[in-house]
Parts: sequence; C-alpha cells; structure tokens
Amino acid sequence: MCGIIGYIGNTSPIDILLNGLKHLEYRGYDSAGIALGNLNRLMVIKAAGKLANLQQEISQSSLLSSPNRGIGHIRWATHGKGNAVNAHPHTSLNGNLAIVHNGIIENYKDLKAELINQGYVFQSETDTEVIAHLIGFYLQQGSNLHQATRQACSRLHGAYALGVISQAEPHKLIAVRHHAPLILGQSRSGNYIASDIPALIGQADSTLSLEDDELAELSENNISVFAADDTICHKTFKPLTMSADSIDKLGYRHYMLKEIHEQGNITRQLLHKRLPSAEAEVNLPDINISSSRLQAIRQIEIIACGTSLHAAEVGKYLIEELTGISTQVMAASEYLCRRSLSSEHTLCIGVSQSGETADTISAIRKAKEHNAHILILTNRPDSSITRYADSLLPLEAGIEVSVAATKSYTAQLVAFYLLSLYLAEHLHSVDAAQLSALKQELLQIPTQIETILQNDQEIKACAQQFNHSRNFIYMSRGINVATAQEGALKLKEISYINAGAYPAGELKHGPIALLDETLPVVSILIPGGSGYAKLLSNNEEAKARKAPLIAITSSQDKELNKLFNHVITVPQVSELLSPLTTNIPLQLLAYYIADSLGRDVDQPRNLAKSVTVE
Ligand code: AGP
Repeated sequence: MCGIIGYIGNTSPIDILLNGLKHLEYRGYDSAGIALGNLNRLMVIKAAGKLANLQQEISQSSLLSSPNRGIGHIRWATHGKGNAVNAHPHTSLNGNLAIVHNGIIENYKDLKAELINQGYVFQSETDTEVIAHLIGFYLQQGSNLHQATRQACSRLHGAYALGVISQAEPHKLIAVRHHAPLILGQSRSGNYIASDIPALIGQADSTLSLEDDELAELSENNISVFAADDTICHKTFKPLTMSADSIDKLGYRHYMLKEIHEQGNITRQLLHKRLPSAEAEVNLPDINISSSRLQAIRQIEIIACGTSLHAAEVGKYLIEELTGISTQVMAASEYLCRRSLSSEHTLCIGVSQSGETADTISAIRKAKEHNAHILILTNRPDSSITRYADSLLPLEAGIEVSVAATKSYTAQLVAFYLLSLYLAEHLHSVDAAQLSALKQELLQIPTQIETILQNDQEIKACAQQFNHSRNFIYMSRGINVATAQEGALKLKEISYINAGAYPAGELKHGPIALLDETLPVVSILIPGGSGYAKLLSNNEEAKARKAPLIAITSSQDKELNKLFNHVITVPQVSELLSPLTTNIPLQLLAYYIADSLGRDVDQPRNLAKSVTVE
C-alpha cells in the first residue's frame, strides 16, 4: 500500500528518496511526494500518478541548496482522491513542519473539527493532515519535536507509521510507529527510515525494525530509539544482506514472470532445509507447541486473505487428510465479524505473505485473545503479524515484487505440506511407510515445476486464443478446487477479465446457465484422483453447451484432445500433491493473457501489495 522513505545525512537526499520510492513502487500507489530540508527552510514537491511525474516536477523546481534531510512517500488513496493535494508530505506551521504517514487515523474527523475551531486551515481531504497540524500545535505550545510528536500520537486512534521533519530542529528526523511497519537504517553517509526493506537495499548497510510505540530520533550521525515510556532502548542493527538482484527483473519482461520462474529453486531450497531426505523427520525449529498441548488440540483454524486464503484451503485438505483434526478456513475479515470459538484447544494458523495485512493481523489478535496457539506462515518473519506468533513457519521465498502473488503461494503450499507431515509425525496419525512415500514424492516437486516452466508453448497458444474472452470459468473437484480459485483470482487481478471458480459438481446448480461458445472453461483433472470421471462428465456437459474447454492435467490419455480445445499437461503426481504443479500453468495462463492485452502486469490497477487497511 503506501510507502515511506526518509533520510538525514551528508549526501543530497533527492536521489536517496527517489531510489527508495522506486523500490516501494510495487506496493501500488496513485501519487507521490517528497519534502526536503536544509538549515533554513523546508520545501515540498508532490505529483499525482507515477513517480515519473514527481521526477518531472522535481526537475522543473528550483531546489533548496544543500539539503541535509528529506522524507518521501507514495500514496494509495484511502481518504480523498489520488491527486497532488492529497499526496504526502503534509505540512503545518506555514510549511515549517512536514510529515509522511502510512496507516489510517480513525478519529481524524473529531480532531479535524477541533483544529478547525482553533483556526487551522486544511488543504487536503486526508486523515494525515490532522497529524501535521497536531504536531504543529504542540510545537507552538513549547514542546520540542520529540515531545510534540508523542503528544500528537497520544491523541490518535488507528494505525500509523510517521516520518517527521521540522525547521524548529533542522538536525533531526523523527520516526514513530503504531500498528504499521517502520524500519530504521544506517550507513556511513547517514541514517534512514523506511516502511519496508526494499527501499533501503543498496542504500543502508544495516537495519532495525521499530516496535510499536517506539520513537526514533535520527540525526546525521546518530539514531536514538525510545520505548513507549520514553526511556532509551539499546538496539542492535542487523546487517542488510539482501542484494539488489532480489529486486531486479534480471532480464525478465516482468517481475511476475521472474517470480514464476523462481519457483523451482525456491521449493528446492525450502525442502532441502526442512526435509533433506524422505527418511528425515520434518525439521520446523520455530514451531513451539509442546507435545501435551498438541495432543490436546481439538480444532485447527486457518485465517488468511486472497491468495493466502487459497493456500489455506489446500492446507485444510492436507491437515484433515493427514491428521484427522477438523480444520476450518476463514477469510480474516469474516472471522472478525463472528463469534470466535477459538480456545486453548485451538491451533490457529495465520497465513500472510507480507505479514502486514490488516484484516489478518486483527483476526489473529482476536484468536490470541481466545487463548489459541498462534502459528504464523509468512514470507516476512520480522513483519507486524509475527508479534502475535507462538510459532513461526517462514516461507523463505525472497522479496515478491509483483502485486500478484505467485512464488509466495507456492511456498505457502510447500509450508502446508511440511506442516501437515510434521503434525502427522508428532501425532502418529499416519503410518511410517505412507509418510515416507509422500515425502519421496514431495522431494520430486521442484524438478517437476521446472519441467512445466520449460514447456509453456501450449499455455501461450491457449492465452493467444482466449485473450479476448470477457469471462472464464475455472473448476475442479477435491483439493484442486482451491487451485481453480487461485487460477481465477490471478486472471482477474492482472488481466481484468472476470473469472468464476467452482467445485465442478456445483456447475449444474446454476453457473451452467452462463455457458455458451464465448465462455472458456478451465478444468484441473488428476487421473486416479477423486472425481476424475465425474469431472470429465462435467466437461461433456459444458461442451454440449458449446463452451470451449481447457484441461490442466497429468493424464497422458490422447482421447482428451477430442474433448478439450487445449490440453496442458503437468508431470504425473498424486492428487494430494498436485496443487503444487497444477497451479503453475494457471499462473502462466493469466500472465500471458494479461501481457498480450498490454496490462500493467506487475502493478494492476486498484491493487496494492499489502493491504494495511481493514
Ligand atoms: C494476491 O495475488 C493478492 N494480491 C492478494 O489477494 C493477497 O494475497 C492478499 O491481499 C493477502 O496478502 P498477504 O498474503 O500479504 O496477507
């Protein structure tokens, strides 16, 4: 969603801010801005639209001489349109104070009314501007910048990560967070703040995640961190080891394509670390549930949103299959709307690539309040959601830049395979021979993924034939219903083509009315799996209504070519493991359709990489 970068030091901040914002672009935004400060004054430059517009504004401005600090922001509109006036930084005190903000201030209307009564004039429709004026107000009351920021924060309800600079203290940059991520960075040439690590790659040498309600004072050559009660904290910065390659397209046309192609390696590395051989026990060192607590677990809940929710559906299937424990999957936003039945006998699994999804964080907080053991599956082990984790399962998929999740989904699936095997081992719910056969097959998956990636001609041909369809149906039975849902979501997100996903048995209960020659139906069928024959019948029914048919299958049966317009084959794999392979052609299908339509594949309209509002 929105992104923050800030710098104070002995280099000109402009390039540092623009580089940082460029590396945050993937999060999705509709306007951008920077504020620069030297020892005499501040200046703010903002623009609607992409960073190129901001760069143009900067090139046409007469800039401050020798700025020593700056803050920058990309905004994804929540309160007020995505225009230059609503873009951050927002200012107070006649431009002598500037702030950038991620998050949402829930009581901004009350605060705004109070400030207007005192004569403050608002320029924008944003919730953020109240923070600028509040800090300005406390500065005028005689507080210093640190105190004024604290006093303002004490009035705010909601979530915020803030960067603040003021002419009152030109050698200071203040950072503070509450329920929104903020990172500090250090280098020889100065100190940084950022909402996410990519903004600091190639700039800072070491980083530190600020905790909730901590406040940092940055100067050109020092960073002091203060706890919520304003006592000084002694913190250790960790070296920033992520290389620029991790946020480079490395010759691929889009990040999404690069990330799809990384999946063989990512799954291989994850498996190698957690399951070095079929004879080994699954090694998940950050799962901290005691044997007695595990034995007492009566239900498992999995909470997630979007693509992570589809991984959760596969996880439910696996856990129930391998442990027999009843497992429920809930969209985080829905878990928040209902009575929670979580208890100390519940294992609650939160799944979030980013670890910053507001709905998932709130739902996990609620489950924790009901004493569930919280296990978090995330690609970002130092993200906000991990504050609630009793146990952790890191995905280790590397930074995912494309808004559409691909490699993180596959890593989530692998994590669920590992977790269900781990639970089965510890609960002795499956016999050793069956476990070992499953592990053996799992270890083949990385090579099978690579085989699919190397043979994408049929997928490209299919994309070419159907890229002008306005609607698609995806369907399957059993464990691959989740794959159908994820395939449909991918297509919708990046191509803007409508796609519905159904358990194939549901087709005849309604969606069949939609079928005609303009509506392609994509089916995932695994021979030997539950309902293969019935799925074929469902396709016959669709063909009788003239729908073009596409199969994703491991079947070698040549007869399928008579029924289906396109047969996209994946290597032979048991039904239980097939979501790891069948999803790959669906990612590529969505990608090639979207690309052929000229869509902005990596940054689809209206979407953000992490959705930090409920
Ligand atoms: C995935 O392609 C989507 N952009 C989106 O559905 C995403 O999966 C969802 O917002 C959840 O994000 P998270 O995994 O970071 O919590």
